[in-house]
Amino acid sequence: MVATNSQQYLEFDLKRYLAAQQAQVEAALARSIDVVYPEKIYEAMRYSLMAGGKRLRPILCLATCQLIGGTTAMAMSTACALEMIHTMSLIHDDLPAMDNDDFRRGKPTNHKVYGEDIAILAGDGLLAYAFEFIAAQTQDVPADRVLQVIAKLGRAVGAAGLVGGQVVDLECEGRSDVTVDTLTYIHRHKTGALLEAAVVCGAILAGANEGDRQRLSEYAQNIGLAFQIIDDVLDITATQEELGKTAGKDLQAQKATYPSFWGIEESKRQADQLVNEAKANLAAYGESAYPLMALADYITARKN
Ligand code: IPE
Ligand code: IPE
Ligand code: MG
Ligand code: MG
Ligand code: MG
Repeated sequence: MVATNSQQYLEFDLKRYLAAQQAQVEAALARSIDVVYPEKIYEAMRYSLMAGGKRLRPILCLATCQLIGGTTAMAMSTACALEMIHTMSLIHDDLPAMDNDDFRRGKPTNHKVYGEDIAILAGDGLLAYAFEFIAAQTQDVPADRVLQVIAKLGRAVGAAGLVGGQVVDLECEGRSDVTVDTLTYIHRHKTGALLEAAVVCGAILAGANEGDRQRLSEYAQNIGLAFQIIDDVLDITATQEELGKTAGKDLQAQKATYPSFWGIEESKRQADQLVNEAKANLAAYGESAYPLMALADYITARKN
């Protein structure tokens, strides 16, 4: 059968692309932090940063930078910083004061290994270093773009973004009066904001114009919400081995989730719909958008 234009990206080899991009990100992350005195904190930071993970945020940033005509080298420092910030959010999310989880990325959580005091500080260390890393290590990019990236990321991770989403997530635990609007606020902020920043920062680094930034931001907001809907679904349908984290925790903690509102099938349908909208946002880019289109499909097809 001849593929129609809109389906040609399906022939794009996502598995191979992901493996190649992941390998580059892993290598850059491994070089990013040296263990020096006081060794314990650097080891704790590296323990979670180098524990695997899909590296989706860095890959989205690199892919978007390339779509707009930039290079991997231009975006790699920001890509690493995104993973440092994401890892901070996981270390803190797993703390007893938050979701109280014992496993992450197939290993005991940071506080289980290093204690809560060091886990809090390891998160702080990663967050601060992320911004230092962008400011000090970004190459071949005009300084005004780097400044915009730092501002964008600061907002995405702070109270207007990820932190705000986490606050409302915790506030809503155990409550039966959570509205759909509040649930959507949680997901768009705790998870969507950093994914959107990953894409938009890649675009900024490559010098994208306002129209491109807007389109790519919409793409990213759509996959960002879909990503957390599927995270909620997988919490119910996948095993601990598949997830690398304890399954079934959301129900136990009485979290507000998409499946708790809509059921599993309807939640998946809504995620599919968002992914279709995300791919439609890329229509103008033709073949150069195949990686981002395939990454959108990966959001709903993934098993962990
Ligand atoms: C988990 O993120 C936390 C959420 C925002 C849902 P990922 O599913 O991207 O975790 P890793 O990086 O692959 O471990
Ligand atoms: C986490 O959401 C979002 C952030 C870490 C910012 P979840 O609490 O659902 O993530 P998991 O399921 O623990 O990975
Ligand atoms: Mg949480
Ligand atoms: Mg959690
Ligand atoms: Mg979850």
